[in-house]
Amino acid sequence: MTTDRAAAPLDDFDPLDSAAPRDDADPIAHHRDLFVRDASVTAYLDGNSLGRPLMASVDRVTSFLTEEWGGRLIRGWGEGWLELPQRIGDDLGRVALGAAAGQTVIGDSTTVLLYKLVRAAVDARPGRTEIVIDRDNFPTDRYVLEGIAAERGLTLRWIAAGEPTPEALAAVLPPATAVLVLSAVSYRSGFLADVPALTALAHEAGALILWDLCHSVGVVSTELDEWGVDLAVGCTYKYLNGGPGSPAFAYVADRNQRMRQPIQGWLGSATPFEMGQGYEPAEGIRGFTSGTPPIVGMLAMRDMIALIEEVGIDAVRAKSVALTEYAVQLVDELLPSAVLASPRDPRRRGSHVTIDHDGFEAIMPELWRRGVIPDFRRPNGIRLGLSPLSTSFAEVATGVSAIAELLDD
Ligand SMILES: Cc1ncc(COP(=O)(O)O)c(C=O)c1O
Repeated sequence: MTTDRAAAPLDDFDPLDSAAPRDDADPIAHHRDLFVRDASVTAYLDGNSLGRPLMASVDRVTSFLTEEWGGRLIRGWGEGWLELPQRIGDDLGRVALGAAAGQTVIGDSTTVLLYKLVRAAVDARPGRTEIVIDRDNFPTDRYVLEGIAAERGLTLRWIAAGEPTPEALAAVLPPATAVLVLSAVSYRSGFLADVPALTALAHEAGALILWDLCHSVGVVSTELDEWGVDLAVGCTYKYLNGGPGSPAFAYVADRNQRMRQPIQGWLGSATPFEMGQGYEPAEGIRGFTSGTPPIVGMLAMRDMIALIEEVGIDAVRAKSVALTEYAVQLVDELLPSAVLASPRDPRRRGSHVTIDHDGFEAIMPELWRRGVIPDFRRPNGIRLGLSPLSTSFAEVATGVSAIAELLDD
């Protein structure tokens, strides 16, 4: 996606000139002070890979270790830990997913949840022989579907690389589709799919749809119930600030909760503590869980979910759009030789901006050494991941101007 733009000489550019008024006018700027900061990081632009920790989470984890784990020991399981995956799931559903209680649960990784839900969906559509995914989807989504196709003797139908628009999909969705898997926001380009329109399209074809919400949850207003979404999964370590490897979430609409998922563990069974013979799934969303929930890993995300609830997801989205608009403007002005790989229309863009340039890989070590931290995705893309509650406009300006300086654009 190339565009006309005029280059401004970098010598005349003070990154803070255009950023300061934006930060001053930002109605949610003060929340940035709630996050742990390190003085060596001058521009953190990777919130779409790993969010910063909230200071409240430091206190929460510390007091959990000393008081709940240290004090209650094994008794803690009966005093709320076992219910935590569903309690946090309900909070997340209410605050960020548009999901009524009883349909969202925390646990496993996104990869494992994808496997469980796609397998369940395939078995819920007997006689349908195809599963469908786009070539641009995240590797784990593609690999999991390849595995399921091989395991169940299904045809894996690929949608060609490019933006998964309703028009593009209408032409290629086979009538034998059991399940279609798409990402709400593309991990690479940041393209924001039309989730309600594509969900309706899948249903017209008699298929189920699973949405990967890793790059949209916490930054894009979402109404899973209203849009009739069947299934969804997503990470919690990006814009939900759950910490490295924090467990993922699964959403299973009420009407689909009779589906059977394949990892039949004791804690997903109807009567786990009977220790009986033969697996019978628990009713409801708990039937989609399997083993012991990773309690420590799901503590920090509670603080971010609470903060998003306080601020409101629409205000978060408004800041996200303002940040990505500013990043695009700076790229236009300062990086004339880079190619904007993200949509220019903010309505079709998530919270990261991807720019391509063959010189990017070489400058990454120096950027990181300077405390400017975007990420790099092969073959030649830098992603600027802008987490609205913790990122300032000044950080965006510092980051883009450092890239421009090192590229000598
Ligand atoms: C879009 C998308 N899907 C799936 C995953 C995989 O998640 P996990 O490694 O937690 O299984 C990621 C990880 O970054 C992702 O960005």
